[in-house]
Amino acid sequence: MSFLELARCSLYYEVDGSGPPLLFVHGGSCTHEDWQCQVSSLRDTRTDRDAFRQLVGEITHFLAYEALPDLGMSEVVIDTPVADGVVARRVTENILVVPVLRAGLGMVQAIQEVVPLTEVAHVGLRRDEATLHSEVYLNRLPRHLDGRRVLVCDPMLATGGSLVQVCDLVRARGAKEVIVLCIIASAPGIAVFRAAHPTVRMFCAAVDPALNEVGYIVPGLGDAGDRLFGPPD
Ligand code: PRP
Ligand code: URA
Repeated sequence: MSFLELARCSLYYEVDGSGPPLLFVHGGSCTHEDWQCQVSSLRDTRTDRDAFRQLVGEITHFLAYEALPDLGMSEVVIDTPVADGVVARRVTENILVVPVLRAGLGMVQAIQEVVPLTEVAHVGLRRDEATLHSEVYLNRLPRHLDGRRVLVCDPMLATGGSLVQVCDLVRARGAKEVIVLCIIASAPGIAVFRAAHPTVRMFCAAVDPALNEVGYIVPGLGDAGDRLFGPPD
């Protein structure tokens, strides 16, 4: 069994009411130790920047794979070295990936390794560490997103404020479906996010119980942007 298949076996779904599952969590009741180890290594202060970046990519592979099992495809006729006119399938759906700067950038390459057709539109938010309110400083979303599926990625969902704002922006432009990938989400942040965007499906690698007095996820992994790219100043 491949690593991906093993990871799939260890997935569990939290289901809200009778609708489709909206929060997909890897790891919580996981029997597959490798998955837990990757998240634990991310948390560990001894993990250096290169290893941290690599782990973010590995975990993102799983999240993207789980989030998009139903990519739009069409049939094409191809010749193989041993048979002509074989009917095959190709992915034709182009997914818009929206990384939330800075830390979301660390997930883009891994998503593109799993999803064959993508475009990337960057959105930048900066969280004021005193008020914990995030302000948008960059918005490169296409003007019209009618009919598009959008994958928003940010490793951390703390208070939930940043992801709520990004999903507001994406939905205001008419996206058909918005899916969120994050690596660690806090339980209170998930509640805030779900209240604002009850139909957005969210995939995360771990749910942590709390935020500390300065809005960091506990136990968390610290500042994801700084651990990926270094402190901004
Ligand atoms: C971090 C993180 C999220 C946000 C989460 O970004 O990557 O975008 O905080 O916090 P929230 O859920 O309370 O809104 P940060 O503002 O530190 O910027 P950075 O990625 O540039 O370091
Ligand atoms: N942003 C991070 O990078 N980490 C946290 O714990 C909270 C916000």
